[in-house]
Amino acid sequence: MTDKLKKSLLQYKAPGIFEETRYEKLHNVIVKSSTEGSKLIANSIALLIKEKQDQNQMCVLGLATGSSPLSVYRELVRLHKEENLSFENVISFNLDEYYPLVKEDVQSYHYFMHSNLFDHVNIKPENINIPSGEVSPEKLRKSCISYENKIKSAGGIDLQILGIGTNGHIGFNEPGSHLNSETRTITLDHLTRFDAAPAFQGIENVPRKAVTMGIQTILNSKRVLLMAWGSYKAEIIQKAIEGEISCFIPTTYLQHHKNTTLVIDNEAASELTRIKTPWLVTSCEWNEANRSKAILWLCETTKKSILKLTDEDYNQHGMSDLLAQHGSAYDLNIEMFNKLQRSISGWPGGKPNADDKYRPERAQPASKKVIIFSPHPDDDVISMGGTFDRLVSQGHEVHIVYQTSGNIAVSDQNALKYLEVTSDFISSKENESIGKLIKAFEVINPQKPAPRSICDLKGSIRKRESLGATRYMGIPDSQVHFMNLPFYETGMIAKNPVSKLDIDLTVALIEKIKPHQIYAAGDLADPHGTHRVCLDIVFESLKILKPKKFMDDCWVWLYRGAWHEWDIHEIEMAVPMSPDQVLRKRKAIFYHQSQKDGVMFQGNDHREFWIRAEERNTATAKKYQALGLAEYAAIEAFRRYFY
Ligand code: F6R
Repeated sequence: MTDKLKKSLLQYKAPGIFEETRYEKLHNVIVKSSTEGSKLIANSIALLIKEKQDQNQMCVLGLATGSSPLSVYRELVRLHKEENLSFENVISFNLDEYYPLVKEDVQSYHYFMHSNLFDHVNIKPENINIPSGEVSPEKLRKSCISYENKIKSAGGIDLQILGIGTNGHIGFNEPGSHLNSETRTITLDHLTRFDAAPAFQGIENVPRKAVTMGIQTILNSKRVLLMAWGSYKAEIIQKAIEGEISCFIPTTYLQHHKNTTLVIDNEAASELTRIKTPWLVTSCEWNEANRSKAILWLCETTKKSILKLTDEDYNQHGMSDLLAQHGSAYDLNIEMFNKLQRSISGWPGGKPNADDKYRPERAQPASKKVIIFSPHPDDDVISMGGTFDRLVSQGHEVHIVYQTSGNIAVSDQNALKYLEVTSDFISSKENESIGKLIKAFEVINPQKPAPRSICDLKGSIRKRESLGATRYMGIPDSQVHFMNLPFYETGMIAKNPVSKLDIDLTVALIEKIKPHQIYAAGDLADPHGTHRVCLDIVFESLKILKPKKFMDDCWVWLYRGAWHEWDIHEIEMAVPMSPDQVLRKRKAIFYHQSQKDGVMFQGNDHREFWIRAEERNTATAKKYQALGLAEYAAIEAFRRYFY
C-alpha cells in the first residue's frame, strides 16, 4: 500500500457530530471536481483490493454503471497499467441490467462494464457477475434469487459503488422500492427512461424494465460510496442528505447504513443548507461573496427590494452577526445596491474614454479583439446573442470559435433533405456520389458509430447554419473558426477523452488571435457533457498560455448555456438588452434550423432554444427589477474567470 493511497482514503464519519453538518443525515465529502472525487474513490477501491491481497482474501466489489463512475474506472485502469494494481483477487457484482437486453447491445451494462473496465484489467472472467437481461420471463425470478444467493455465498459485498438517479434511485430501485427489497425485476420510471433516452436514440428504444439488486442487498454491503457530479444532481442530493427517510427517494434508505459516504463535487453540493445558506447552520465568514449571497437570499425570502431591508429582517434570518460586524442594514443595503448597479453595463467590451473604475470591463484598448468560444455551433447566439451583437456594433473585432462540429445533433431526415435538394440540381454523373451518401443512410446501425461521410454532411449543415447567423450579426467569415475538436468526432454520443491535440489546437488559435477578451461557456451542470469538456479544454489552454505577454491583457468571461443561469450574486457583468435586441437575438438563433422543432438532444426542458434563452434573459431582468434596479427587457449575465 503506497503512502499516496493511504492519504487519500475516504473515511466514514458519523453525520451529526459536527456543527456545520446540522441538517445532514448522510456523511458526505465535498470535492472540487469529479476528477478529484473519482481519484479518491478509485484509490479507496485500490486500497481495499490491496489490503485483501495482503490477507490472502478475495475482495468483493459492488459496481455501478452510468456516466458518474466512468472516470473512476478510467483511474482504476490506469492504476492497473501504471501502478501494477492487480484484480486477480476481485469478485464483482454489478447493480443492475436493463431487461430485456442482450449482452452484445452497446447499451447493455454488460457491454459498458467490459468496455470501460473489465477488458482492461486482469479480473478473472469467472469472477464477474452482472444480472442477466437475457433470461426468459419464466426463469427471471429464479435467476434474481440465485444472483442474491451468489452475493451471500461470496461473503457479501465489501465495497459498493453507487451513482444516484435524478429521481433518487440507487441501482434501479425506483421510488416506491421497499427497504427489504432484494434482487428483482422492476418497471423503470418515466424519468429514468427519459434520462437514458439520448443514449438509446429516443425514449421509445429504452427498455421498460430492469433487473436490479434491492435496497436490502445494497444495505448489506460493508461499505458504500455514492458519487454525484454536477448541478444536475444538486436538488436530489440535498433531498437525499437532508430529507427524511422515504420510499419516494430511495437514496434516503442509506441513512440506515452506518458506513456510507457520499462523494460529491461543489456543484452537486450546491443545494445543501451549509453551502447554500451557511448562515443558517453556524457562524459564517462574512466575506464579500457571502455578504452578497446572503443579502440577495434575504431579499428573495422576504420578497423585498435591497434598499427596503431592515435590521429586523437581518436579525430574524440568522444574519445578526453580519450586522454586528458590518454596521446597520442601511450600510449593507447601500453596499449591495451599488455592487449590483455597477454590474450593469451596455458596454461589454468596455466604454471608450469613460472612467472605468466601477465598470465591469476596461475602457482601454477602445477596440478589443474578442474570442467567443461556443461549444456547439449555436451556443454563441443562444447564450450571448445580445452581447455578441453589442460587441460587433461597438467596433470590436469579434471572432467566433465553434469548438465542436455538433454533427450528432442533426437528424437523419434533416440531412437527407439537403442531399435530395442537391441531387435535384446536379448532373447525373455527380449524382452518383450523392446517391451513395443517400444509400449510406439506409444501412445506418444506431448501435455503431455513424459513417464519416454522414458525420461530415451533418457537420457541414451546422457550419452553413452558423455562417448564416454570424453574417447576420455582421462579422466576416474569416472571423468564424470551426475547430471540429477531435474528442467529439466519434460519430456517437459517447465521446473520446480529451487529447493533447484538442488542447494544442485551442492554444494555437488563441495565440494567433491574441485576444483582449475571451468568452467561454461556463456550464458545470453536466460534468461529462460536451460543454464541460469544452470548458476544461479552454481552462487547460489558458494555463499553458498564461506566461505569454499578451495574456496579461486578456480577461476571461464565462456565460451559461441553454440550461442554467448564474445566480444573481454570482453575476459580475449584466448586459441589458432592448426589445429590438431581443428580436435580433431571436432571429440569429433561427438560423440554426436543424436545432429547431423537436431537436434530437432536447434534455428535460421541452422549450425550444430561442424560447429558453428569452425566458432566461427576461427572468434575469425581472430579478434585477425586483431587487430595486432599473427595468430592462432582458439581461445576459457573465462572471469573470481568473486563470
Ligand atoms: C447504474 C445505476 C443507476 C445510476 C444512476 C445515475 O448501474 O444503477 O442507479 O447510477 O442512474 O446515473 P448517471 O451516473 O449516469 O447519472
